[in-house]
Order: sequence, then C-alpha cells, then structure tokens
Amino acid sequence: AQERDALRERIRRLLAERDAVLVAHYYTDAELQRLADETGGCVADSLEMARFGAEHPASTLAVAGVRFMGETAKVLTPGKRVLMPELEATCSLDLGCPADEFAAFCDEHPDRTVVVYANTSAAVKARADWVVTSSIAVDVVRHLHRRGERILWAPDKHLGEYIRRETGADMRLWDGSCIVHEEFRAAELAELRRRHPEARVLVHPESPAAVIEQADVVGSTSQLLRAVVELDAPSFIVATDAGIFHKMHEAAPGKTLLEAPTGGRSATCRSCAHCPWMAMNGLRSLAAALERSAPEVEVDPATAAGARRSLQRMMDFAA
Ligand code: 13P
Ligand code: SF4
Repeated sequence: AQERDALRERIRRLLAERDAVLVAHYYTDAELQRLADETGGCVADSLEMARFGAEHPASTLAVAGVRFMGETAKVLTPGKRVLMPELEATCSLDLGCPADEFAAFCDEHPDRTVVVYANTSAAVKARADWVVTSSIAVDVVRHLHRRGERILWAPDKHLGEYIRRETGADMRLWDGSCIVHEEFRAAELAELRRRHPEARVLVHPESPAAVIEQADVVGSTSQLLRAVVELDAPSFIVATDAGIFHKMHEAAPGKTLLEAPTGGRSATCRSCAHCPWMAMNGLRSLAAALERSAPEVEVDPATAAGARRSLQRMMDFAA
C-alpha cells in the first residue's frame, strides 16, 4: 500500500511537471481510474476519450487504454505528445484486421461506403469513409442507410450484425471479434436471469447475438454505466469487461451488480471478462512513461491525414 501511495504521488507530480492529463478507459485498473478523476483527467468510453483529449488544453495526453485509443488521440491532435503506459496493449479487433487485407476487401467492394469501428489501426481508418464507436454506430449507419448507401463494415462481426438488425442496412461484414465479449454465454445468461428475475441485463454490442437478444439495454460502456444509474431496478447483470464495475459501484452504490457468465478463457483468470491488453496498464508503467516521456504514440503524417478525415466525420456527427 505504501508503494502504491508513493506511485500515486509520483504520477500526480509528473502529470503537473509534464503539462499532462490522464485519459483512462473504464476497463483499466480502478487505481488508474481514480487517479484520472482526482487529477482532472477523465474516465470514459472511447468516443468521450477522443473528445476529451481533443478539447483539453494540456500539451501531453497520457492515455491509459489500448493502442487504438492512443492513435486516435494522436491523429486528432497531432501537435500533442501522446504517451501510453504500454504500446503493446492492442485489441483482438485491431489485430484481426491488417491494413493490407482490409484494403483488398475494400477493393472488392468499391460501390460500398466503408465504415470501420474505432477499434482499428490508423492505417485502417485512413482507408475508411467513416469511423464509429459503439455509442454512435447505429445512428451513423442508420443515417447512411437512409441516404441509400450500402455499407462495408469492419472488423467486429457481432457489432456489425447488431447494427444490421437495428437499421436494416445492407452491410457486408469483416470476420473479426472481441476475445472478451465473445466469451459471454447465452444459455448460462438465461439461467442466471431465471435466478434473478428482478435484474436488468446490460450488454455491450461486441457480444454474440444470442446474448444481445436478452438485453434490456445494449450500449457503449458509458451508456451501460448510465443505465445502472437511471433504471429503476435493484440489480443488474452486466455483459462487458469487469473493469466497468468500479465506476458502476461508485455511481450506484446501493445496487447489486452481477457478472454475466463467460465460457472462461483460462482456468486461472480471476474474472474471465477482462481484457488482457487493458490489464497491461498499471500505476508503475504509467509513472515510468511520464518519467521518460516515452513510449510515445507516433502515426506517420500521411496515414494520420487519412485517418483524421474519417475520424473527424464521426466527431462532427456526434457533436
Ligand atoms: P466503448 O467505446 O464502449 O468504451 O468500447 C470500447 C471497447 O474496446 C469495448 O471493448
Ligand atoms: Fe479490444 Fe475487446 Fe479489449 Fe475492447 S475488450 S480493447 S474490443 S479486445
């Protein structure tokens, strides 16, 4: 505990010295989320992280999350230094959608509007017409569908299928998935609901269709957090990364939160619904990154210019 206190103090001092602000995702360690809150940073979903980083006056952004979040920050504010505790913190969706294979997929469907999920590399975003996060994916695709556009979607097939069901849009899907959300199990969830009929079910749309079908609310991490506060229910079954429980408990202390059942990636994981890449972010690695002003997220200028176009469309749509 003493070491943690010392680390926290060191991070506070370094944030001030480096003119830096901490931008953290809900799936990161509770200690990091607490520090972000206490030091004037933010804890947010991926769209809000992008917005906060772009609007905040600090010259350095310390991004606790996964690589695409750091890249998005850099692309939107190339003049800022973007530090991450761990550049190897990636995402199975990003890994499963290499830019060259994605470009070939786009070349096969030149007549379609290319919409990609934020959980992709800057190079993939540079090839896209639009970027969306889970919080506005349905709204953006509905807008494009109403304009008569047919969609090429990548990389998350579960989110893509969900958007297609919601909007009725004509969508071709890339075959990618999130290793965390894909583990939620529909039959076991139905059983848990039978044992807790009073509970509402909150599901992130990266989950399989049979899990989404059982949801009372489907949404981004921020939208699910809001639902815990706003819905008049004593308990909730939550199908998303367990990192979100920190904020949910804080925002609605009287409510009972249950983890949706997972298949279990390994026999030893404490909570199987926890992203291994988000877990790479810690107090120690954050302190080291601020101390050394490294590792820094870099995106080559040509790629960044392409990605900025599709990201800015999302930011303008969401505004
Ligand atoms: P949100 O935009 O909902 O925060 O989702 C990001 C993510 O990586 C979910 O797995
Ligand atoms: Fe990617 Fe899934 Fe981790 Fe989110 S939870 S960063 S989608 S692997």
